[in-house]
Amino acid sequence: MHHFQYINGELFAEDLAVKELAAKHGTPLYIYSTATLKRHFQAFDSAFSGLEHLTCYSVKANSNLHLLRLLAGLGAGMDIVSGGELHRALTAGVGPEKIVYSGVGKKAEEIARALEAGILMFNVESRAELERINAIAGQSGKRARVSLRINPDVDPKTHPYISTGLKKNKFGLDIDQSLAAYQRAKELKAIEPVGIDCHIGSQLTSLDPFMEALDKVLAFYERLKDLGLDIRYLDLGGGLGITYDEEDPPHPSELGRALTEALRDLPLTLILEPGRVIAGNAGILVTEVLYTKKTPSKEFVIVDAAMNDLVRPSLYGSFHRISEVVQMHRPPLTVDVVGPICESGDFLARERVLPLVEQGELLALFSAGAYGFSMSSNYNSRPRAAEILVDGDRVIVARRRETYEDLIRLES
Ligand SMILES: Cc1ncc(COP(=O)(O)O)c(C=O)c1O
Repeated sequence: MHHFQYINGELFAEDLAVKELAAKHGTPLYIYSTATLKRHFQAFDSAFSGLEHLTCYSVKANSNLHLLRLLAGLGAGMDIVSGGELHRALTAGVGPEKIVYSGVGKKAEEIARALEAGILMFNVESRAELERINAIAGQSGKRARVSLRINPDVDPKTHPYISTGLKKNKFGLDIDQSLAAYQRAKELKAIEPVGIDCHIGSQLTSLDPFMEALDKVLAFYERLKDLGLDIRYLDLGGGLGITYDEEDPPHPSELGRALTEALRDLPLTLILEPGRVIAGNAGILVTEVLYTKKTPSKEFVIVDAAMNDLVRPSLYGSFHRISEVVQMHRPPLTVDVVGPICESGDFLARERVLPLVEQGELLALFSAGAYGFSMSSNYNSRPRAAEILVDGDRVIVARRRETYEDLIRLES
């Protein structure tokens, strides 16, 4: 459920007409809905109320400071994967005791900063990283709390690029090698092994892979207890899918029920790292039709948003629903919706049936709140889009549109 709805044929973001917002703030424009973000966070977080838990929003999904502040205000912790995300989370006022740090390639300076900040724990992805964290923590007289990220070899049945829990993926430690890694962690003076971590992929549309991974992780937890380790946290990552097209993913309450059932009697704090399910359907990307063009083989709608603004269609062949901002009730046509970038891979939709649109009209791409702006770039020297956050009838410019001067500022 989200708060982008049509009223008399015109799209509204909460109480505000998207057409007016585009006229005021320009296009391409990301619009986020405060009510939707709140609703999604609360629906997710409350699904686990039967367990000791911490919901750490995955900053990579949408790292805008205003969103982070909003979520932090609702009690969210954060899952980070870089020094930059640590900086954002701390700037947004997230308590370091609510920050977990994942990622296969943490640099020494990033580790040192996170230790300095006093984050809850590092999700460690290799033996070499474990040794490095130990060395850095030791130098500063600290002890680093860690979980080791276990790769349970479970197929999440999602796009290969966002599938992370298979043996062939770069993430985590092979489950069979992990026992020895925990043994080593126990020996290291500046390491305190406190948890187990696992994240098998993103945009999961069934509970089965989550439960299959959980079974393996819990069996592993039993083996760790035999080692005499005091494991207090179980981090099951993110990954719950959303509806872009016709997917029917489980509601967070279903995941909540299943995990509560499985974990109720264990002395563990559950950590979750949802990203897409919180932000995905809380954002749209609004774009203006620049031209329409008919070739002997295709009809093109050329818009002012491109793969630099929203890369998911080009990168993963992802589907985003596209609709007119003001419905004109014209006949349908099969078109490719493409951007101005000089790549044939620059498309937002292919072979899509849309009502006939005309130059100057606006289109909205739905479900663009996660992995939209956060994956954007300046390719073709295109200033990045503005982001606005609507709250009822109020608007915050969450990130102003970049200017040409912004593009060259770091190059003089
Ligand atoms: C370690 C980790 N945690 C959480 C997430 C968030 O996943 P999602 O947005 O699917 O919830 C990701 C996404 O790639 C991830 O790599």
